[in-house]
Amino acid sequence: MPLKNSATHYGAVTRFLHWSVFMLFIWQYLSAAIMTHLAKDQTLLHLTQGDYYHWHKSIGLVLLALALARWIWRKTTPLPDWAPALSPAERTFSHWNEVRLYGCMFLLPISGYLFVMAGGFGVKLFGFYDLPNPIGKQGGLATIMMVTHIVLGYAAVVFIAWHTSIALKHHWFEQDGFLNRMLPFRRP
Ligand code: HEM
Ligand code: HEM
Repeated sequence: MPLKNSATHYGAVTRFLHWSVFMLFIWQYLSAAIMTHLAKDQTLLHLTQGDYYHWHKSIGLVLLALALARWIWRKTTPLPDWAPALSPAERTFSHWNEVRLYGCMFLLPISGYLFVMAGGFGVKLFGFYDLPNPIGKQGGLATIMMVTHIVLGYAAVVFIAWHTSIALKHHWFEQDGFLNRMLPFRRP
């Protein structure tokens, strides 16, 4: 499969970035649910609440790097043409929704980072290395960023659900092979 997108296909790089981001998003929601419900002295699968926090923050920062790579790649390699099966309304909505999805991919990690830095909690990268805190403690900013992070977390679920339902509606109900445009090793 070619690395770059063509007029009719998504290339390997776009597909790899798309599904890596998807899998890491699943981890982010799972780890967030666990870390906010586990007591300090409890463990789950031998990991403490602190471990889940470290990995949520660290993978969140990896996601920020992937979002940046994805955005640069999208700007430098033209997207394929719209799938012929998409109606004009679905094209307009998909474009609108993709802008929101990119917004979430950037703003979720940024708000999370600003929240923990301004709150003085910091980031211990993968449990090993304390990142420097360039902004210091700022109570007001921490509260605003925490609320932003939580609201965006819920908003992203709505955008992802819409995006997924359009893809699955076409693939399963209209049987036009829509998912094959993005699934690995498949041709539309
Ligand atoms: C974290 C979750 C997800 C995000 C953030 C996301 C984001 C995006 C974005 C931004 C695009 C446009 C191409 C690009 O810029 O890479 C895209 C395309 C696509 N996504 Fe997702 N996606 C997610 C999950 C899913 C899921 C779960 C499915 C299906 C089960 C799916 C199916 C597709 C398909 C088929 C395309 C190609 C659409 C076309 O033909 O233009 N995505 N996705
Ligand atoms: C795309 C990346 C990210 C996603 C999808 C994500 C998602 C979430 C979600 C869904 C929650 C639970 C909100 C709730 O309480 O209901 C959460 C909480 C949290 N996130 Fe993230 N997050 C991301 C990145 C980050 C980053 C980069 C950091 C820090 C460096 C971070 C720090 C936190 C913290 C500390 C909490 C707990 C907030 C609380 O006490 O309620 N997150 N995140």
